[in-house]
Amino acid sequence: MTSIAALFPGPVVVEASTLLPDAELFADECAFVQAAVPKRRAEFASARVLARKALAALGAPLVSLVPAPDRSPVWPLGYTGSISHCSDYCAVVVARSRDIRSLGLDVEDKRELDPAMQDLVLTRAERQWLESQLPVLRPVLPILIFSAKEAYYKCQYPITGGFLDFQDVELAIEWASGTFEARVLKTGWPAAVARLSGRFVVDPDRVGCGVALMPD
Ligand SMILES: CC(C)(COP(=O)(O)OP(=O)(O)OC[C@H]1O[C@@H](n2cnc3c(N)ncnc32)[C@H](O)[C@@H]1OP(=O)(O)O)[C@@H](O)C(=O)NCCC(=O)NCCS
Repeated sequence: MTSIAALFPGPVVVEASTLLPDAELFADECAFVQAAVPKRRAEFASARVLARKALAALGAPLVSLVPAPDRSPVWPLGYTGSISHCSDYCAVVVARSRDIRSLGLDVEDKRELDPAMQDLVLTRAERQWLESQLPVLRPVLPILIFSAKEAYYKCQYPITGGFLDFQDVELAIEWASGTFEARVLKTGWPAAVARLSGRFVVDPDRVGCGVALMPD
């Protein structure tokens, strides 16, 4: 996927690759995924190698990137970023915190979401919107909505530390401009992140979504 950097409005560094078989980890990172299945170890390790490369391009120190206990990524002080993996692919975006407050990146294999997942992911209004769209677009829109909600969730999490269900977030997608707006339906969600805009890209293999929260 060539255009991940274009998913973000500010200065970011993106590194993306198919999974790296020989990705090397720090000892504490190794320990974190010791009990995981090989696929999980490979995606975790690939993400760390790509993240270190991206952070180095911004002048950040070479550090271990062990996630927090809630599994969210922990970035070196002064930097922020986001990680996503799909079947055989991993992408990382990082930025300086003075340029971008928070980032959310999600990449998915381009596929049709099965009906049970669509029920889980799409709100009633999103389902109605879907039915009004061109038949040629309809197969890809549910996975796009899924991915956009994941990207939004990752971006808002460092600010709120809060959990959101798929039904708590409603998407407005503008296909022609490759943009969307995510809006939280729950009341009382922090105003800074209750409504965020994002960008998406769809290529023959994957769907990618990015959300950025700019500094005040
Ligand atoms: C965090 C979450 C969104 C990850 O999405 P995913 O499609 O399963 O997996 P991806 O490969 O795209 O992303 C994985 C990366 O997300 C990051 N991540 C995990 N928890 C995170 C959080 N709370 N906030 C931000 N990023 C998070 C990690 O960096 C992880 O990579 P790593 O394990 O190599 O460190 C998902 O696991 C989750 O917790 N979902 C619950 C909330 C939700 O989805 N609500 C509906 C949308 S509003």
